[in-house]
Amino acid sequence: MQRYLSPILRVDFLYKFSSVKKRTEQAAKIVEDYTSKVIEERRNYLKTLKEAESFGDVEENNNVGLRRKNMAFIDTLLKAQEENRCLMTDKDIRDQVSTFKAAGNDTVTAASCWTLLIKGTYPEIQKKVVDELHQVFGSSKRAPTMNDLAELKYLERCIKETLRLYSTFPFFKRQIREYIHFHDGLVAPAGVTASINLFMLHRDPEHFPDPERFDPDRFLPENCARRHPHSYLPFSAGPRNCIGQKFALLEGNAVVSTVLRHLEVEAAQSIDEVKIEHQVALVMKPQNGLKVRLRDRGADDLKLRLN
Ligand code: HEM
Repeated sequence: MQRYLSPILRVDFLYKFSSVKKRTEQAAKIVEDYTSKVIEERRNYLKTLKEAESFGDVEENNNVGLRRKNMAFIDTLLKAQEENRCLMTDKDIRDQVSTFKAAGNDTVTAASCWTLLIKGTYPEIQKKVVDELHQVFGSSKRAPTMNDLAELKYLERCIKETLRLYSTFPFFKRQIREYIHFHDGLVAPAGVTASINLFMLHRDPEHFPDPERFDPDRFLPENCARRHPHSYLPFSAGPRNCIGQKFALLEGNAVVSTVLRHLEVEAAQSIDEVKIEHQVALVMKPQNGLKVRLRDRGADDLKLRLN
């Protein structure tokens, strides 16, 4: 990010001798080593699984096997490579896994943290979520199933409304291919790069009246149908949009519902006081974490900083 923002560091020759390059390489090595370790462990695991399957030790309908219809992404890549169905090198696979790790990790973590702070800020909304959780889970402590998560409609609307106000991926860029004439007379020439700023787009009062108000019902199906399809873009749009958006909402539902089934959340700071990191690298994060108080029924308060 430092290089991206500095005209001096963009010059290859100057970058080559900078401390930024050294630090970038050190950091990249940590990420690459970690990714390689994950891939290697998975490869060994699949090897063991394959041997077990060939001996008939693994049930046909197990949810990790190599004959599964919807295999995990990493398994699909490794299997295709092994069967010579694609020309991916180990580095290609590592790059794909790194992209998923970078795009899918911090984004969901930050979205879950913002959702929890909002729950702690608006107790009446938290109560509605908890009522919904009661309807789905009763007093059981069992882990959620996919069907349970699909039933958490109000919670999902809360996460969508959180992503409207605090889009964890706050801007993305596109190269304009042809002249665009805007209705206010401005023109964007072909070839320039346009940055789409979600913080502003999602606060446009034409599409979201009283934009600063947190209102999950904006995402009731009938309200969504009335809005322009591009008025809300937390996962971008078009052929390069977020490939993991359904998974992200599912993951957010799983994380936030699990916390709220066990703990009551109270904001330990006003949401208006939260300062956003100056240099948004990829994911919009608070400068000093999001402070909430978590109360387990009967236990002492536990003050946590969610990063
Ligand atoms: C709340 C969570 C998430 C948000 C807000 C988010 C947002 C986005 C956005 C805005 C883009 C498009 C960037 C662009 O148009 O240039 C994107 C791309 C992408 N996302 Fe997500 N994402 C989330 C979660 C995930 C998850 C969980 C995964 C994977 C499991 C994932 C994988 C990807 C990948 C691979 C791309 C690149 C797609 C491409 O370039 O073709 N994302 N994401």
